[in-house]
Amino acid sequence: MLHVDPKTSHYAKVLCDEIFGSRCFASEIIWRYRRWPAKTNNFQRVHDVLLRYVREPDRPHRFRQLYEPLAESTRATWGSGRQRAVIDANGRRRRSSTTAEPSPGTPLGDVWDISIVAPVARERTGYPTQKPEALLERLVEACTYPGDLVLDPYCGSGTTLAVCARLGRDAIGIDRSPLALEITRERLRALGREPQEERFLPAERTKRARVA
Ligand SMILES: C[S@@+](CC[C@H](N)C(=O)[O-])C[C@H]1O[C@@H](n2cnc3c(N)ncnc32)[C@H](O)[C@@H]1O
Repeated sequence: MLHVDPKTSHYAKVLCDEIFGSRCFASEIIWRYRRWPAKTNNFQRVHDVLLRYVREPDRPHRFRQLYEPLAESTRATWGSGRQRAVIDANGRRRRSSTTAEPSPGTPLGDVWDISIVAPVARERTGYPTQKPEALLERLVEACTYPGDLVLDPYCGSGTTLAVCARLGRDAIGIDRSPLALEITRERLRALGREPQEERFLPAERTKRARVA
């Protein structure tokens, strides 16, 4: 999963297609948020892009269907029972019928409305690029199973790691910023997890160290 803004998402997609293979592309998720309007002679930018790739497109990959609440208009017309598609003898779709079984909701689409972390939110750490836990929760719940190992190589304030800790996934986070790592440590400790740490030298120095 790669998270980028709309200025770079198309370049990033071409790059990822080249690296992973275009057949491995699985979804482009639009994360739509509300924020204080910017002074701009343009439409307000209120979305980011998440690109999802899978390793083996021909084999069943990890995916758990999540649901959104039914739309008000759907509930008004159909109630909250699960709907069944009705196909006539000619194979044409007819008005669907509603069953007594409660509907789990609408299968989650690829446009997600999730608020950014508000200045007064309890989860706010003060890290400048912090992502909302609700965004990571969806990704982790839909794309991994309990007990899986999740890697966030640019973990920032540790949102992915905190969500994984809560949802029973193991996680590895990497960041070059000491502040990011300190916030991540604090966040994990607040959840009763003691982080295990390893330090890596920057690539150049590592190369030199190996050569020496
Ligand atoms: C967009 S932020 C991640 C925010 C995170 N998802 C959160 O909720 O706080 C990107 C992070 O990548 C880190 N970073 C950028 N370049 C890096 C590099 N070459 N190696 C490791 N970390 C890097 C930055 O320090 C920053 O914390």
